Amino acid sequence: MSSEEMLVVKDLKKSFRHGKGKKSKPVPAVDDVSLTIYKGETLGLMGESGCGKTTFGRTVLRLIEPDSGELYFKGENITKANMRPLRRKMQIVFQDPMGSLDPRMRIGDIILEGINAGGTYSRQEQHDRLMELINKVGLSAEIADRYPHELSGGQQQRVGIARALAVQPEFLVCDEAVSALDISYQAQIINLLREIQEKDKLTYLFISHDFSVVRYISDRICIMYLGKVMELGKTSDIVSHPLHPYTHLLMSAILYPDPSQRQIEDDPGEEEVADLSIPEHGCRFQARCPYADDVCRKDMPEFKDYGEGHFCACHKCRDIFG
Ligand SMILES: Nc1ncnc2c1ncn2[C@@H]1O[C@H](COP(=O)(O)OP(=O)(O)OP(=O)(O)O)[C@@H](O)[C@H]1O
Ligand SMILES: [Mg+2]
Repeated sequence: MSSEEMLVVKDLKKSFRHGKGKKSKPVPAVDDVSLTIYKGETLGLMGESGCGKTTFGRTVLRLIEPDSGELYFKGENITKANMRPLRRKMQIVFQDPMGSLDPRMRIGDIILEGINAGGTYSRQEQHDRLMELINKVGLSAEIADRYPHELSGGQQQRVGIARALAVQPEFLVCDEAVSALDISYQAQIINLLREIQEKDKLTYLFISHDFSVVRYISDRICIMYLGKVMELGKTSDIVSHPLHPYTHLLMSAILYPDPSQRQIEDDPGEEEVADLSIPEHGCRFQARCPYADDVCRKDMPEFKDYGEGHFCACHKCRDIFG
């Protein structure tokens, strides 16, 4: 991983209105998120369903317009920029491969669309590039004549990746790119993404709710909860020394430092009763945190560096997890 910045996100906010008419009020999906993604790295973004991962991933690509905040891509302020020339460099792979491929188009044409969006090529060049991409994602040439519904989920996801790569991007958002696949396909696609990253020097924002997947592919991990970043750091630091009680919850029993502190996952029916409304004051995680006290209910914790870029937003983490 280099220290060259690929994407800088500053105070990014995006809210959606919930409810209708007078009763509707904006609820933040991404709330004041600041982070940097470095060239050549994979930043894993994880958290439970509804915490704002997809909104974040789409907002940094400006597929959704932010309410406020700033975005810099390779040093250029793209917050208000015309995204057309940049689309090529910033691509996304979606969760649902079938839903993201046009069912009426042959696979070859789907990928060719991307190739032609990336430059002007002769017929021969187009064909060579198509075969190169199909080969790169581990498919065979005959697949070019087939339609999306004639492929397995794993094959469809490979086509989704080939299409994203066709425009020769530098930055790829993978939003739950393997979540819909069987475990065996998941490993194949993840390994494929890693190989391609090494060869093409790509930078990834890898979104997933699955800690084992995120941990395997990411150089650094960012943990989100109700629109806020709770913890961010090198994967090895997060795995060996998680600081936030929420990270402990996500990583569950294995990494608990002391069995007497296993209140979270031992809490019966915890998933069913989880309170996911945003509290008016204090820490977002207070309702589910076994360590929350008056300070946590009153003040929003600061997002602090606890050493070597291991950030955490918790009043108590130093006292509890050292
Ligand atoms: N277009 C929209 N209109 C209204 N609310 C939205 C919209 N998109 C997202 N939200 C809300 O924003 C919050 C974050 O949603 P988002 O899809 O970003 O979460 P997520 O972390 O990607 O979840 P999942 O793991 O289920 O994909 C949720 O409360 C969701 O209901
Ligand atoms: Mg999502």
